[in-house]
Amino acid sequence: MCGIVGYVGSKKAIDILLEGLTNLEYRGYDSAGVAVNVDGKVQLYKAEGKLQNLKDVVEKNYAEISKSTIGIGHIRWATHGAPSIINAHPHTCNCGKVAVVHNGIIENFKELREKLEKEGCTFRSQTDTETVAHLVASKFAKTKDLTEAVRLATKEIEGAYALCVIHQDVKDTIVATRRNAPLLVGLGENEYYIASDVPAIIQYTKKAMYLDDNQIVTVTPSSMKLIDIDNNPIQGKIETLPWEPVALSKMGYKHFMLKEIHEQPDVVRNVLSGKLRAMDEPITLKEVTLDKEKLKNLSRIQIVACGTSLHAAMVGKYIIEDFCGISVDVEPSSEYIYRKTITDKNTLVIGVSQSGETADTITAVRQAKAKGSHILIVTNRPDSTMAREADSLVPVYAGIEVSVAATKSYMAQLISFYLLAIYMAEIKGSMDVNELKDLKHELIVLPQKIEKVLAHKEDIQKCARAFSGSKDFIFIARGINYPTALEGALKLKEISYINATGYTAGELKHGPIAMLDETMPVLSILMKGKVYDKILSNSEEAKARNARMIALTDSSDTKLNELFDYIIRIPEISEILSPALAVVPLQLLAYYIAEFLGKDVDQPRNLAKSVTVE
Ligand code: M6R
Repeated sequence: MCGIVGYVGSKKAIDILLEGLTNLEYRGYDSAGVAVNVDGKVQLYKAEGKLQNLKDVVEKNYAEISKSTIGIGHIRWATHGAPSIINAHPHTCNCGKVAVVHNGIIENFKELREKLEKEGCTFRSQTDTETVAHLVASKFAKTKDLTEAVRLATKEIEGAYALCVIHQDVKDTIVATRRNAPLLVGLGENEYYIASDVPAIIQYTKKAMYLDDNQIVTVTPSSMKLIDIDNNPIQGKIETLPWEPVALSKMGYKHFMLKEIHEQPDVVRNVLSGKLRAMDEPITLKEVTLDKEKLKNLSRIQIVACGTSLHAAMVGKYIIEDFCGISVDVEPSSEYIYRKTITDKNTLVIGVSQSGETADTITAVRQAKAKGSHILIVTNRPDSTMAREADSLVPVYAGIEVSVAATKSYMAQLISFYLLAIYMAEIKGSMDVNELKDLKHELIVLPQKIEKVLAHKEDIQKCARAFSGSKDFIFIARGINYPTALEGALKLKEISYINATGYTAGELKHGPIAMLDETMPVLSILMKGKVYDKILSNSEEAKARNARMIALTDSSDTKLNELFDYIIRIPEISEILSPALAVVPLQLLAYYIAEFLGKDVDQPRNLAKSVTVE
């Protein structure tokens, strides 16, 4: 979604702003803008559409713009008002001296706008953000102090925000603050960076300070001052950012998505490292603080998540129930938060999120926390808002994921669920020792199996070419691979815009079968195990309706050749671990179809990498 970059120091601010925004592009946006201060005057440059359009505007005025050593920049994902130059950030007050960029939603913007209009403010955009510019200007008129003006403004603002503010008359100063939206300050030599996310600044500095809610930071080239909303000074914690700038390079791959799919063997190794040390040693999860007795007595587990993380949670349900015998409910966070929260201290609530910033999941875990549940967060971002809400944390260590379509983070979430389920089963003593050893061994050799799938990607490419003209797609599976079917369908629809749906194979004849004919491809996930024969029968039923059939299987049964038009074979794997292998060809299939269709694979239309609004 939206992204913020700010800079104050001695370098050309515009270069840093545009580079930072480029590194946030993956989040999804529809317009962009910057504000700089040239010869004591705030100047705005904005463009609709891709960042390149803004770069073209800047290019024409570069000599002038590059004089500024201070600036704020933004990419906007429209919430209030259409994507347009007028609605793009930064927004300014009447006289244009205050410039503001904002991530989040100001919930009481209508009331504030009415009040400010009565005071004489003229609004130009439909955004909620413009109210902040006018509000800060009105406070500044009284206080003549930008930090104080921002502080007083935030006392009146309701909702979620990360804000970055400059004022023409307050030389070389940026004031930034946050509530329920991430923001960090990067520290350089006589310079400071502000960013809504690490990739914007990682190539300049690894020293950073994360802001907490309601903290206000004021930076100049030579100083940084942090206060809370009641004007009390605060000592910020300076941290070393864990990423290397190289994470933002495609490393020779055509797209980040393809690179990230190929990183999955190493992601599995990373997740297992230090947690699964030997087959006869118990799993260690250092940051899971749930008391062992409490864990043994858990009556229920609830898992909340969205999108791909929800599919990982569904696999999690299957394995936790299987290994531990504890009943697990999985629900989209956006549903969980709008009904009665029925949970208690004997229920473990697990939030799953790649970004750790998904607004619905943050709200869901907060609601559960208020009811006394222990909150365990599975996330790729231990520095995120959600991680800060956690009683227990399972960091998944997939590394930065740039492609909007989640791939390696899904893999890392799945492996983390296997580790968590085994960890709990070992404490509860609910699993057979030999079964445990076999499973651990299979986890250790999983990366090699994924590598084998990746080594045969040309087969999947051929299949993708053959089916890239399809308007619709059905994925069927049963049991533990039903979430794999959902994830395969989600990947395909989000990057190729083909209408793809995942069904439990048994449901096919209760309605969806009516859609089947020669124009409808059906992909059956046929992994050897207890539901293999059942899915085979369901596939026969689909074939009898002339559907074009694709099998994804670990079976070498040659009889499948008669039934299926195309067979994607993967190495043999136990049914319980099969979701972690079966998803890889589906990611590749979606990728190659989207690539054949010439889609914007890494930044699909309308989508944002982290959905920070409910
Ligand atoms: O950051 P999160 O895992 O909480 O994000 C949840 C979804 O928005 C995300 O998985 C989305 O569905 C991806 N685009 C899937 O590829």
